[in-house]
Amino acid sequence: MINRYFKILTSVTLLFMAVMSHAQTGRKVENFNTGWTFHLGDAGGAEQANFKDEQWRKLNLPHDWSIEGTFSKDNPATPEGGALPGGIGWYRKTFTVPQTLQGKQVYIDFDGVYQKSTVWINGHQLGFRPNGYISFRYDLTPYLKFGGQQNLIAVKVDNSVQPNSRWYSGSGIYRNVWLVSTGKIAINHWGTYVVTPQVSAAKATIKFAVSLKNSTGAKQSIEIKTRILDAAGATVAAFGTIDYQLNDTAGTHVQEVVLNNPRLWSTTNPYLYKAVTQIMHNKQVVDTYTTPLGIRYFSFDKDKGFFLNGKNMKMLGVCNHHDLGSLGAAVNMRALERQLEILKSMGVNAIRTSHNAPAPELLDLCDRMGFLVMDEAFDVWRKEKAKYDYHLYFDEWHTRDLADQLLRDRNHPSIIMWSVGNEIREQADSTGIAIAHDLARTVRQYDVTRPIVTANDRPSSGNFIVKSGEFELVGYNYHHREYEKFHETFPGKIFIGTETTSALETRGVYDMPSDSIRRWPNNKDSQNGVGTMNEDFTVSAYDNVSARWGSTHEETWKLIKKHDYLNSMFIWTGFDYLGEPTPYSWPARSSYFGVIDLAGFPKDIFYMYQAEWTSKPVLHIFPHWNWKPGKTVDVWSYYNNADEVELYLNGKSLGIRKKTGDDLHVMWRVQYQAGMLKAVSRKNGKVVLTRTINTAGAPARIELVADRKQIKADGQDLSFVTVRILDAAGNVVPDATNQVNFNLQGKGFIAGVDNGDPLSHDPFKANYRKAFHGLALAIIQSAGKQAGTITLTATADGLPAAKLILQAK
Ligand code: GAL
Repeated sequence: MINRYFKILTSVTLLFMAVMSHAQTGRKVENFNTGWTFHLGDAGGAEQANFKDEQWRKLNLPHDWSIEGTFSKDNPATPEGGALPGGIGWYRKTFTVPQTLQGKQVYIDFDGVYQKSTVWINGHQLGFRPNGYISFRYDLTPYLKFGGQQNLIAVKVDNSVQPNSRWYSGSGIYRNVWLVSTGKIAINHWGTYVVTPQVSAAKATIKFAVSLKNSTGAKQSIEIKTRILDAAGATVAAFGTIDYQLNDTAGTHVQEVVLNNPRLWSTTNPYLYKAVTQIMHNKQVVDTYTTPLGIRYFSFDKDKGFFLNGKNMKMLGVCNHHDLGSLGAAVNMRALERQLEILKSMGVNAIRTSHNAPAPELLDLCDRMGFLVMDEAFDVWRKEKAKYDYHLYFDEWHTRDLADQLLRDRNHPSIIMWSVGNEIREQADSTGIAIAHDLARTVRQYDVTRPIVTANDRPSSGNFIVKSGEFELVGYNYHHREYEKFHETFPGKIFIGTETTSALETRGVYDMPSDSIRRWPNNKDSQNGVGTMNEDFTVSAYDNVSARWGSTHEETWKLIKKHDYLNSMFIWTGFDYLGEPTPYSWPARSSYFGVIDLAGFPKDIFYMYQAEWTSKPVLHIFPHWNWKPGKTVDVWSYYNNADEVELYLNGKSLGIRKKTGDDLHVMWRVQYQAGMLKAVSRKNGKVVLTRTINTAGAPARIELVADRKQIKADGQDLSFVTVRILDAAGNVVPDATNQVNFNLQGKGFIAGVDNGDPLSHDPFKANYRKAFHGLALAIIQSAGKQAGTITLTATADGLPAAKLILQAK
């Protein structure tokens, strides 16, 4: 038996190797990001080949023009949308296609254009797409000129009428663009579907559907071969070769294979296989197509919670909005990966793509890095939230957009839920029932392997969306005081904490006393010197301020931790994002909700999660130790893997504290005295960790710390450089605001600067940044494909220059 299996594998491998040389004749996917011209403003006639664009700016995609703009409360996006400009923009690209492509199908794929894009090829209008978050394809074949002749793609993007999205949207061709060519017989766009209907440790049934397109105009005999490759590239299973009669337009074929001893995909070991499909015609490979495959199974139990591969676990999630801080909406693989790395180190294992279709790269990374994903489609249905939002297009476009999102995303093992709406207003309107049926039908047409959810801010039995009966899972946005009544409110249903928390913090700001909880906007005015809001538009970073509808981090986690049926939480939000500057508005322009600030610097609460959600030893103490003599300061500590923490000030013990009951932190109330604060955590009397904070002196130098000193010379890769203002002894100066000026030499450029301050109106695309609570960030991108050295020099008045050398390889 084993021999036979081996023989089959060997012959399939040999066959594959024999046909590899023909692979070039099949599909080709080229990145189409370079060499565009751009004009901000309308440009009538720019779709015509003879239009003169010599004066236009030359740039590479992805590109977000809003992030390059100037903050103003008068921009139509409003501070809720990030206060950056919108407008109309045009992109043009002239290109040639080799003669060898004649007789092939040629497509252009846009991963996302914000928003209302119209695309032309050689003056011919290909289409219009209003939804700025959706991916789409146009067929260029009938309009292309081959050989030396020039072709022109023109794209008009209209983000002039705002507000049209919550929150910052960005503007332009902000995701990747691809030029795809295939033969006349090929696998369709998003044309495969892989599911694993039965999975156990012993074996997995893999079901694979392939959808084919025939542009030859005649019936064709073809063969379909699909192999499953393991992570090392070895073939571990193969579907039998199928002789298939393709009719003159299209066809679909489904196959099944059993894989013995599958390695399962999980959040801790995200093992990935892939399915490689070849289409043969006249003994030639005419198409090769790779589909990601992760083998896992999951289930929900109304009482016991969520199970992945039979193991009970909680979804420890964050909601993330799509912007990448100072890079804006312009997608960048490394920037996304860095966000996920930071979240992983906090213990996060789930992401909600609030509130729109994400960049495809995010899903690839979640597959690879082991995050569960709630893939969300809509923030509105028919009823508006913002005057010009998607409700204007919902009736005409929602089925198409939802189908496209499902088709694009359904092979990602990371995705375990589809969310068809966030805080949809039809929850309170009987029309919600029919729309819920309609959306659920569309989802189930493309995928029946994952549950559908809506994120409800009205989680009551009167909710019309829930009443539709379409959803087994009931999503709760906030309403944490009602969690414990869940089974009474929704008998037999399964809870999902679709959106939780909504606490507010400014990194590095501490108001005393810290031990009473404030809700914005109720406790707007100062009480005992503390309110939710300060006159300088900051919010204290002790976890004691939340939005009225939400809860603090500790309040939420204590509840979720307590009950098995509370299977998940998705914190609003992992990272700060542009827009929604609750509790303020202008001059604030970005959010205060993140566990991590806009620049990617953790706020203190990050360490509470790290202590609770990871097994690595944690001891974190805060605040900083620069106060007025005699001030009463609350010192908090988050810790794990220890029985107690002892705090010392200048060598004198301030006492031992132990978490009791459901405590998540301990606190000392201390009369401030300059010097050294030291915390020691102990387990069974043995020291686990020690942390110190010193009173910092005046700024004395700049320190530059790169997350990676070597980056790829691919024009895309990034090094995130943290800038720290230190005193003479090497302590971060907590109130340092020095303006740091950057000079960059070599094969790179500054892609963005930031400091995490929601109030800064300095540009993100600049070669300077003020420190905020002692820190700033410079993002360095490799320029073009040339390898070489990148030298970053940072200067600030009165401080010696600091230098950092990076390599682009
Ligand atoms: C929710 C909403 C989010 C965000 C959040 C702030 O109601 O879904 O988009 O506004 O509140 O707490």
